[in-house]
Amino acid sequence: MSSSPASARDGFSSGFGVLAATLGSAVGLGNIWMFPYQTGNNGGAGFLLIYLLATLLVGLPLMIAEISLGRSARTDPVGVYRKLAPGTLWWIIGALGLVSVLLIMSFYSAVVGWVFAYVGKSVSGGILTQDRSLLEQTFGGLVSNPAAALGWQWLVLLLVGIIITFGVSRGIEAVTKRLMPLLFGLLVLVALAALMLPGAMEGVRFLFLPDFSRIDGQVLLKALGLAFFKLSLGVGSMTIYGSYFRQQQNIPRTALTVMLADLTVSMLAGLAIFPAVFALGFNPASGPALLFQTIPAVFASMPLGHLLMIVFFVLTAFAAIGAMLSLVEVPVAILHERLRIERARATWLTVLALVGLGSLSALSSSTLSHVQLGGMNLFDLFDFLSSKLLMPITGLLTCLFVLLRWKQAGFVAANSNEGALHNTGLLRAVFTILTKVTPLLILTVMLYGLLG
Ligand code: PFF
Repeated sequence: MSSSPASARDGFSSGFGVLAATLGSAVGLGNIWMFPYQTGNNGGAGFLLIYLLATLLVGLPLMIAEISLGRSARTDPVGVYRKLAPGTLWWIIGALGLVSVLLIMSFYSAVVGWVFAYVGKSVSGGILTQDRSLLEQTFGGLVSNPAAALGWQWLVLLLVGIIITFGVSRGIEAVTKRLMPLLFGLLVLVALAALMLPGAMEGVRFLFLPDFSRIDGQVLLKALGLAFFKLSLGVGSMTIYGSYFRQQQNIPRTALTVMLADLTVSMLAGLAIFPAVFALGFNPASGPALLFQTIPAVFASMPLGHLLMIVFFVLTAFAAIGAMLSLVEVPVAILHERLRIERARATWLTVLALVGLGSLSALSSSTLSHVQLGGMNLFDLFDFLSSKLLMPITGLLTCLFVLLRWKQAGFVAANSNEGALHNTGLLRAVFTILTKVTPLLILTVMLYGLLG
């Protein structure tokens, strides 16, 4: 990565690299850890259906908008709005995104720390069992041990700092490109093994037969928040990645591919987890612990389970790091391109801030468990503030920006590569959804979820 400012910006070097890195941002713990546990907590298929709608009507149009805004301005997520709407306050969109990034990184890095710890536990083999109480104790023991929770999290942050120091094309692309196909293949295997457990069909029913009695305003807001989180929207990650996109890249097609692939990974994770939950008597609503308790039990039923479980947690760790890279890239790019701080220094400043902020989440089930706000510990509070408040608000403002400042002509020109792609009709339709349907949905769900 060049350390000179925006004039010599680094970027993704190939079409596949663009796709892999964007997918690397979308696919992560959101798919493998958060999607299953939120689906479990909120009643299964009904939640899934609403999440799908949110992904289609809110996620996809916003992803196209964020990426194309980034590519048009080719600068950091605050600078994008300063460049496209000079002298206005629209840059606040970028600033709000930055706040979300810091909140998300705080709890996300704590969970990646748990994944790292489980790589270690997989190697030693102690968790390769279907003994429910042992698996529950193992997870509980990890999150309530302050030294372990902090140590693993800090290790994760150190590693992310090192990868980012190598820059966009060498660091991010190199890591994510190799990882996705492997993770995908292994998830298929785990899902197949889970589906073969006796009693597995109950889990499939849970995932696919909707029960709408569980749906209320809060559940709607959770599904919307998950759609934002899953596709890395409303924080500036897609905007900054867009700024590294090649000029000839087809943005709408890339966004659609990323959305579909992301959804597939989530569904596979659901199919790996819920059959096992019902077959082995776990509680589908066990929250953040769900992945860590059920997945080892599935591997315990598989041939080569020990080896494959190690590979699974290693790949999950890589996927999570790919997502984290896109989060950390937001503050790093802002510090580098706004404040002209050298990239390496910007990276380590960010990592240092995250060690502090992240510790609050890592300790939220132990030393800091008494710190509660609105019935939430710090971990849950940061999740709530980002996914259910800031990201939807930022998304809403982005829709308004496209409607009021960029307008249809700007949006269509950017996404048709100045007419080269001959997709103007499609883009007009996307523009209509993005500026009418998407903002209305976000607003309604937020009001209903927060006040209803
Ligand atoms: N999309 C990532 C996941 O599903 O794990 C998480 C994430 C990454 C959220 C980047 C937000 C973001 F900007």
